[in-house]
Amino acid sequence: MTTPKSQRLVTTELPGPLAKALIARGGFDMQSIYRAVIADDVTSSGPWLHDVDGNVFLDLFASFALGALGYNHPALLDLARSPAFAHASVNPTSTPFLTTPFWIEYVEEIGARFAPRGMTKMYCVDAGGEGVESAMKAAFIVHGERRRKADGRSPNPLELPEGEQRAVLDNAGTDAVIVSFGGAFHGRGLGPLSATHSKLMHKADLPAFPWPQVPFPESRYPLARFPDENARAEEASLTELAHVLARHAGRVAAVIVEPLQSEGGDRHASPAFFRRVQALTRQAGAALIFDEVQTGCGPSGTLWAHEQFELPEPPDMVTFGKKMQMGGFFASADYAISQFGRMYQTRNGDRARALLGLEILRTIASDDLLTNVKSTGAHFLSGIEALAERYPALVTSPRGQGFLLAFDLPTAALRDDFLKRAQRRGVMATYTGTRSVRLRPHLVTRPAEVDDALGVFDAVLVEMSA
Ligand SMILES: Cc1ncc(COP(=O)(O)O)c(C=O)c1O
Repeated sequence: MTTPKSQRLVTTELPGPLAKALIARGGFDMQSIYRAVIADDVTSSGPWLHDVDGNVFLDLFASFALGALGYNHPALLDLARSPAFAHASVNPTSTPFLTTPFWIEYVEEIGARFAPRGMTKMYCVDAGGEGVESAMKAAFIVHGERRRKADGRSPNPLELPEGEQRAVLDNAGTDAVIVSFGGAFHGRGLGPLSATHSKLMHKADLPAFPWPQVPFPESRYPLARFPDENARAEEASLTELAHVLARHAGRVAAVIVEPLQSEGGDRHASPAFFRRVQALTRQAGAALIFDEVQTGCGPSGTLWAHEQFELPEPPDMVTFGKKMQMGGFFASADYAISQFGRMYQTRNGDRARALLGLEILRTIASDDLLTNVKSTGAHFLSGIEALAERYPALVTSPRGQGFLLAFDLPTAALRDDFLKRAQRRGVMATYTGTRSVRLRPHLVTRPAEVDDALGVFDAVLVEMSA
């Protein structure tokens, strides 16, 4: 592998003068309060993000793990210029009712080549959080039908007595629950938010379902260095999960868990922990949903992060979003909802997004990017571990799986200072949890670029130690 020269270049204050002027004009967008970068998406290339002021950053942020193949990947540009993409873009359809041959080929190829083991259906929406909400609905629907069946009644809601049908329309709801983990993030819709426990500002003043949560293991990192302590932390969490499931016996529709808690601080647990979660969930007769919106489509080093847990049986549902270019979930046969009208959104599958997502998956396979993620990710992690040894007062808890990498600084203020200084030197990373730096490199990031970033981190830490 040749070593490309670093392209980092920051010649203006950040944001630069052109970006600042544009940011000031964009205030009609409610979300402009966050905006710090105005990109030049014509000249950006691979993991190198260019801004309108001519600054060039190594992008280890990838828009919160949205980016997969870097900027302006030739395969995606070719696709975007193709008639197939143009027609799919300008002719939206209500996919469940009316689509083109491409959609049939898309689901066929996803099912045959890219879906997690054991999944027999997929359901497509727009964003990741909608995918989670949809998976939750599938869990509640199957749970409700099973309960009616167990009572010797018809599972079909159209056969409910008239009074019960009216009650449903009048918000009778259900006493069934979804169990989630402390620190989790599952999206911003009101369903996913009730299983989200990472930040006050996600939830303040909003209604929430009274669903139980279980503490996620408070692991110490690197995981392998604290096996006994971490095993005890996992045991405590599993004991609480068993209690919660027992307390809600017969009423748990699903247990939802991220393979690695991303927004909640990049918190990991062992494969053994997830196998026990699955066993307990099965015993309770509930669905196990892995939320792979952030971890799915390659950044863990396997296409789906939960594949590394060696579960004896597949999970019941796996949600996706971000790098897949659309949200949704995969379901096992037990959670394939088939009754007309139960699950439906107008679009249910944007063909232009599907074309991009499929090309990304094909490129991950043809360019063997999972091998790159595994080996370059391990190289990155050992570099961060070396920084933790060299700057123990500043860098702690190095952790990672593939390109899902993180480390801590002592306080939120020091973490933010680190991120700012790194950005001024041309490396863009992001935050997570209370005081963690989160790295989500594009899957095409190579060792030479990682070494470049490690050099920048080193220089920043020297500066911060002074
Ligand atoms: C695990 C997980 N689930 C759901 C979501 C929500 O995805 P979106 O913001 O695309 O709705 C996210 C977003 O970060 C996530 O990390």
